[in-house]
Amino acid sequence: MEKALEVANLHAWYGESHILHDLSFSVAKGEVVTLLGRNGAGRTTTLRAIMGLTGARRGSIKINGVEAIQMPTYRIAHLGVGYCPEERGIFASLSAEENLMLPPSVSKTDRGMSIEEIYDMFPNLAERRNSQGTRLSGGEQQMLAVARILRTGARLLLLDEISEGLAPVIVQALARMITTLKAKGYTIVMVEQNFRFAAPLADRFYVVEHGQIVETFAASELNAKMPVLNELLGV
Ligand SMILES: Nc1ncnc2c1ncn2[C@@H]1O[C@H](COP(=O)(O)OP(=O)(O)O)[C@@H](O)[C@H]1O
Ligand SMILES: [Mg+2]
Repeated sequence: MEKALEVANLHAWYGESHILHDLSFSVAKGEVVTLLGRNGAGRTTTLRAIMGLTGARRGSIKINGVEAIQMPTYRIAHLGVGYCPEERGIFASLSAEENLMLPPSVSKTDRGMSIEEIYDMFPNLAERRNSQGTRLSGGEQQMLAVARILRTGARLLLLDEISEGLAPVIVQALARMITTLKAKGYTIVMVEQNFRFAAPLADRFYVVEHGQIVETFAASELNAKMPVLNELLGV
């Protein structure tokens, strides 16, 4: 299987703090992979390290086969990577639609979704297109944050805790969104605390602990792995 992302022997630091220790994982094109782990395990740092947003990094990060460990963030984005940070980064003083108009295209080969395509996929956002960023609900802001990266043409999506703190009906809408994106061929790395959200969506799972991968399994092994997961995550 062709790899969209291949992280090998990754170390990352914030200042003097050595956070990621020889972390390795990979994601095939079109796969949905979830990084599970307790708070502070190093999942956000993993996504940030892939984007070049930590301090020093060492090891290898290949995006569609291209080594990115030495690249600055903007060049990594231009390899077709879309990062949705936990804090979402919605511009409060701009309308939903203005937020959607901001991103530049990051891909020479893949066109980003048009505004029409975005509104087809997120009818809530169509209704709220003229509302200011701050007036949107948490769920609407989360959808807008994901929709905004879909505008760039990125085909590899790094999504940090998108279901966190949202009402069940919104979480269901986000699950449908992931399923739709997978059907469209996107490759998705989801960081999740919400195991029940991730479980039916992901093809494969990695468990992160102390900045390392400590467990990996496929969706088909999920039932058999439940006792181990209980121990590692308390799910
Ligand atoms: N900006 C930072 N500076 C220093 N240490 C950090 C910073 N961000 C996170 N850490 C530390 O890195 C470790 C991993 O955190 P994080 O990647 O956010 O975990 P997770 O997303 O799995 O909850 C934690 O010990 C956390 O305290
Ligand atoms: Mg985190």
